[in-house]
Amino acid sequence: MNRSFKTLMGMRILGWGTALPEKVVTNHDLEQTLDTSDAWIVERSGIRERRIGDSTAELAIEAGRHALERADIDPASVDLLVLATTTPDQTVPATSAHVHDALGLGGGAFDLNAACSGFVYGLVVANSMLGAGNHRILVIGAETLSRITDWNDRNTAVLFGDGGGALLLESVGDEGQLLAWDLGIDGSARTCLKTEVGGKIEMDGREVFKRAVRAMVDSATRTIERAKIRPNEIALIVPHQANIRIIQAACDRLGIDRERAAIVLDRTGNTSSASIPLAFADAIDAGRLRDGDRVLLTGFGAGMTWGSALLRWQTPPSPNEREASTRQAGGSNG
Ligand code: UT7
Repeated sequence: MNRSFKTLMGMRILGWGTALPEKVVTNHDLEQTLDTSDAWIVERSGIRERRIGDSTAELAIEAGRHALERADIDPASVDLLVLATTTPDQTVPATSAHVHDALGLGGGAFDLNAACSGFVYGLVVANSMLGAGNHRILVIGAETLSRITDWNDRNTAVLFGDGGGALLLESVGDEGQLLAWDLGIDGSARTCLKTEVGGKIEMDGREVFKRAVRAMVDSATRTIERAKIRPNEIALIVPHQANIRIIQAACDRLGIDRERAAIVLDRTGNTSSASIPLAFADAIDAGRLRDGDRVLLTGFGAGMTWGSALLRWQTPPSPNEREASTRQAGGSNG
C-alpha cells in the first residue's frame, strides 16, 4: 500500500511550543538513592539530567499555549485537540478535556495512547482530519512518567522524565508538509515494556533496545521510500529520545549522518510521547532548518508501536501573510 499523500488537502505547521517542569534531577542526584553512577548512565544512555514535576495537563497546556501564541491565532478557531499521552491525569475523563477547556479551544478533543510513538500517530491522525474538513488542529504530546517510575529500580529510574511539546497545524489546499508516513504495532511484544493499572514501569531493557533499533530503521526506511527520496536528502532526523546508542545505531543503519539527529535526551531523559516534539522544537529554535528541508520524525514505544513521518520544513507564514492567503482561497480565518 502506498501511504504517501496525494490529496488536495494537506497540513502546514503554524506554531510549536514546549514545556518542562522546573525541577532538575541530575544523575548525581540519583547516585544518592540508587546503586548507579553518572558515568554508567551517560555511557549507556546519554542522559545527564531530567525534569520532574507538574501534571500532564499542566505541561500540555503550557506547550499548547506557546504554540498558539507563536502562531498568533484565536484558540477558539482550533477545530480539534489530539493529546498523545501514556500518563493521563485520571482514567476518565480524558486529560484533553482539561487542556481543551484551559486553552479555550473550539471543536473536539481526545487522548491517544500509542506510547512513545504517540506524537507521530497524533500527527498522522491530525493530517487525515484536516483532509476530512477540519481547518486547525493542535497536536500535543505530554507526559509525567515520574508518576509511574519506580524510583527504587535502577533499571528504569535513570531513564525517564516529564515534559510536553506541541504543534499547531492548519489545512492547506495542496499536498502540504507531510510527504509520507508509516505507523505500525507488534502486539505480540506487548510485555517487554508495560505498566499495570496503578503500577510502575516494568521493562526488559535489552529486548526493547534490540526491537527499537529494528522497528525504527524499518519504519523510517519505508517512509523514506514512500517519499521517493534518499536518506542523504534528510536534513534533520528527529528520533524518539530514549537512548543515544539507539539513535546512533539507527542513524548508522539508515545512512544518515549522526550530526543530523536532533537530541535533547541529555537534558530531558525519555519523555515518551513528548520526546519527539521537544526535540523538533529545540532544533527549530536552534535555527537548524531551512525552507524545503526534509525532516524525518521516527519513534518506537511500548506495544510495541512505531511511527515515522517525513515532513518538508516551511517557515510558518506571518499572521498577515496567512490572512492574505486565506482571503485569496476564500476560506475562514481565526
Ligand atoms: O521509550 C522506550 C523505553 N525504553 C527504552 O528505550 C530502553 C531500551 N534499552 C536501553 O536503553 C538499555 O538497555 C538500558 C539503558 C536500559 C540498559 O543498558 P544496557 O547496556 O542494555 O545494560 P544491561 O541491561 O545489559 O545491563 C548491564 C549491567 C547489568 O549488570 P551485570 O548483570 O552486567 O552485572 C545491570 O544490572 O548494568 C547494570 N545496570 C546498572 N548499573 C548501574 C542496569 N542499570 C544500571 C544502572 N546503574 N542504572
